[in-house]
Amino acid sequence: MSILVTGGAGYIGSHTCVELLNNGYELVVIDNFSNSKPEAIDSIKKITGKDFKFYNIDYLDKNLLEKVFQENNIDSVINFAGYKAVGESVEKPIEYYINNVSGALILLDVMKKYNVKKFVFSSSATVYGDPEIIPITEDCKIGGTTNPYGTSKLFIEQILQDIYKSDNTWDIAILRYFNPVGAHSSGLIGEDPKGIPNNLMPYIAKVANKELKELSVFGNDYNTKDGTGVRDYIHVVDLAKGHLLALDKLNKEKKGIFIYNLGTGIGYSVLDMVNTYSKVNNVDIPYKIAPRRAGDIASCYSDPSKAKKELGFECTKTLEDMCKDSYNFIKNHER
Ligand code: UFG
Repeated sequence: MSILVTGGAGYIGSHTCVELLNNGYELVVIDNFSNSKPEAIDSIKKITGKDFKFYNIDYLDKNLLEKVFQENNIDSVINFAGYKAVGESVEKPIEYYINNVSGALILLDVMKKYNVKKFVFSSSATVYGDPEIIPITEDCKIGGTTNPYGTSKLFIEQILQDIYKSDNTWDIAILRYFNPVGAHSSGLIGEDPKGIPNNLMPYIAKVANKELKELSVFGNDYNTKDGTGVRDYIHVVDLAKGHLLALDKLNKEKKGIFIYNLGTGIGYSVLDMVNTYSKVNNVDIPYKIAPRRAGDIASCYSDPSKAKKELGFECTKTLEDMCKDSYNFIKNHER
């Protein structure tokens, strides 16, 4: 029996593949490298010393996707094949809805045809919009998303609820990620965005590595401890392990649709990130205070107690680990 991982060469997908392989799971991986590189597949094999079947296909191609189900004994699916850049989604809503929503629907339709009904879905804290209370629990109101990326996650969550309502033999885990950062300690896989990064940690990494001159801190007049935005940064390896625990739950208990926040429960400000990155890596991070970024909220962090109680999910990596591993990855990937 194999797990199908869609988008397995991407940032979170590749780290999850490593954890799955290290825990003895058999994998079939697909990716079309739209936002990743083939080297990631080699790196996963190098880190784990394990092999798996890989298909370079687009999950929107239903015929090719069906072939994957015909040729392999798949019993569950983890879907990482979504686009994820907030700003880009505003520019390209059609592309985002086709890739994320139509892609998920095609995948779910093929799963249904081949009677594969175990699904782990990468959702995001973005579905909470501007959160009504902090820390955010899974019961908080969702909606009010401000960009097509976030709305695509919201739509897919609703689609999954409707599928489960129509047929309760599906087993579904919806994982709402907070802010994944860091990299595998080997330095072989990590986040490697094309062009100028939108997210804080990859931007800091490029400033530290002197590829970019300085960081713009978007606002220092928020109602937070130092005025800069506060987020729940989670090490990508801790996040990857959350997928194994979610899958274990579906394998053991086999009943229902579950939603979990995956975060540490700790909020760090932009300046906490800059200072820690600079200190643990002994590098300068020049920055300037810039105006607030449109659509940003002051604070967003999770209450991770449901995932702890029901999955045994606990983050083991510190902010120092996240900063060290990020820098190690970028040094390792100097071009
Ligand atoms: N920030 C800066 N300068 C930068 C980039 C970011 O000051 O150059 C600040 C932001 O204003 C914010 C914090 O750093 O306060 C984090 O920003 P990110 O862009 O790294 O992350 P966001 O919290 O805005 O968004 C991320 C993901 C989304 C996801 C969301 C979930 O990018 O995909 O978390 O809460 F939906």
